[in-house]
Amino acid sequence: MFDGKTVLTGVKPTGTPHLGNYLGAIKPAIMLGAKALEQGGKHYMFIADYHAINAEKDAAVLNQKLKEIACTYLAAGLDPLKSVFYRQSDIPEILEITTILYAYTPKGFMNKAHAYKAAVEKNRLAGKPDDDGINMGLYTYPTLMAADILSFNTDIVPVGKDQVQHVEIARDIAGAINAHYGKDLLHLPSYHVEENVAVVPGVDGRKMSKSYGNVIPLFEDDKAIKKAVFSIKTDSRPLEEPKNPDEILVYEIYKSIATPEQLQEMGDGLRQGKLGYGHIKNMLLDAVIAEIKDAREKYNYYMAHFNEVEDMLAQGALKARPTAQATLKRLKDAVFGRE
Ligand code: TRP
Repeated sequence: MFDGKTVLTGVKPTGTPHLGNYLGAIKPAIMLGAKALEQGGKHYMFIADYHAINAEKDAAVLNQKLKEIACTYLAAGLDPLKSVFYRQSDIPEILEITTILYAYTPKGFMNKAHAYKAAVEKNRLAGKPDDDGINMGLYTYPTLMAADILSFNTDIVPVGKDQVQHVEIARDIAGAINAHYGKDLLHLPSYHVEENVAVVPGVDGRKMSKSYGNVIPLFEDDKAIKKAVFSIKTDSRPLEEPKNPDEILVYEIYKSIATPEQLQEMGDGLRQGKLGYGHIKNMLLDAVIAEIKDAREKYNYYMAHFNEVEDMLAQGALKARPTAQATLKRLKDAVFGRE
């Protein structure tokens, strides 16, 4: 599927990653990148820090989130010697390319973009003016995202469903530019939505999300993870009462992490009235800790030695920039009629 293809993954440094992010997005993204590399392709993995400033104005918070995200990806197995791992703000060509893309971005595209529309909708529900609190960074963010993608001749952008539209916008802008100049200045990207990734429920049964306050933390200590696992919603049925595992939230969460044998064991125990909620919570806790133990050690190491990560990001930028520079040159030559 990826042979020789360029895969590009971007991540906004907002929010401390939780177990749901880890199992549902971070690990799958790293596995996909590794697959592309195995098949002779390229993998770009970058931290979209210019995207983050639209929403986060506290520099110290932003810096902390960037560190957390960078260390999480490294801890989860991203290999910075194989993947090109960089910070968006270290590649100034992306911003120059954005400016050129603006001239080919219909304003109507931005009006229709999900992130902007969602912000307007939120304002309407709150009885505020449509554009209240909305800055130009948020409004035009699909064009910056298009530049992130087009700068590196990306073939495939792995995204969640909410980001499909943005890749389509990138494709449309690139198509318009190519059509206008009558040559393939920009490579047309496609999106890839991974269908089989875990959607991990939170401790209250809704999707695990920081905004619901229902997360199982990722790289915190065992005590914090235990506290979250033991707060998972259960009912007051006695242990001996046979239960349908599919109606039990602990079991639902266990699905995203357990081996088939472990899952079978918990399912049988519940159906036969042999396992109580305390038991199954301990089983889940053990599985979560087993899953994250090594990664957590790596994470803590990198957080404490962030200068090493800074070096990796600097190296990554050095590797990434020539491609963005070549894209920018192609565009400038065409736009300003230099060739
Ligand atoms: N918009 C993406 C998100 O909110 C992050 C992102 C920025 C991105 N630029 C990108 C993702 C380029 C893929 C490619 O999750």
